[in-house]
Amino acid sequence: MDDALMQAPLFSALDAEAAVALRASMAEMRVQRGGIIFAEGEAGERMYVVLDGKVKLGHTSPDGRESLLAVLGPGEVFGELSLFDPGPRTATATAVTDTVVVGLGHADLRPWLTGRPEVAESLLQALAQRLRRTNEALADLVFSDVPGRVAKQLLDLADKFGQPGPDGVLVHHDLTQEELAQLVGASRETVNKALADFTQRGWVEVDQRQVLLIDMERLARRAR
Ligand code: CMP
Repeated sequence: MDDALMQAPLFSALDAEAAVALRASMAEMRVQRGGIIFAEGEAGERMYVVLDGKVKLGHTSPDGRESLLAVLGPGEVFGELSLFDPGPRTATATAVTDTVVVGLGHADLRPWLTGRPEVAESLLQALAQRLRRTNEALADLVFSDVPGRVAKQLLDLADKFGQPGPDGVLVHHDLTQEELAQLVGASRETVNKALADFTQRGWVEVDQRQVLLIDMERLARRAR
């Protein structure tokens, strides 16, 4: 069994035998960078787990502006909202890198939810964590300035994708500057200004699609 899958909320509560059986009922899908897995507004009845790569969840406002709700990596689940509460997809899921996901339809998930309460419990836990994070992001939008939100996003991305090295934590996020700004919820110019300021202070080193976090402590203080 794949490591990323064993950590996913769906699987983490299962023993090896049950996990193999659940995996067998899931369909694997390979998506190229930029490929759309599903689009906002579509009807959906399938949830996904990221096996490899990264997926961004984007939302378009009525006037056409884009914001990113999240960027997910291996082991993370998405698409569960329209599965539990039938309705249109609340975001567009796009592969940020070449990505492999596995999908599970409503009919195949149901027996697991009813027969294995621990699966339902672990999905509820994932939903609760997401709501917590969303509330925090909402409070940050109201109370924090852009540099504070940039610092917080960098630390969150480091949590997910960071690799500790001799000079700091290297975060290979694979996002363009525009996407990073959409994730922070600010204009590209203001986000770039904050990044330039952090660079000048020696806290980070910004490169294409990656950033080296040199002084996490200062960033954490700025994020507060
Ligand atoms: P669904 O509405 O089916 O399709 C879009 C998916 O994006 C949604 O299910 C969730 O899995 C995911 N999603 C929506 N909002 C957030 C959020 N704030 N953080 C992380 N993921 C989200």
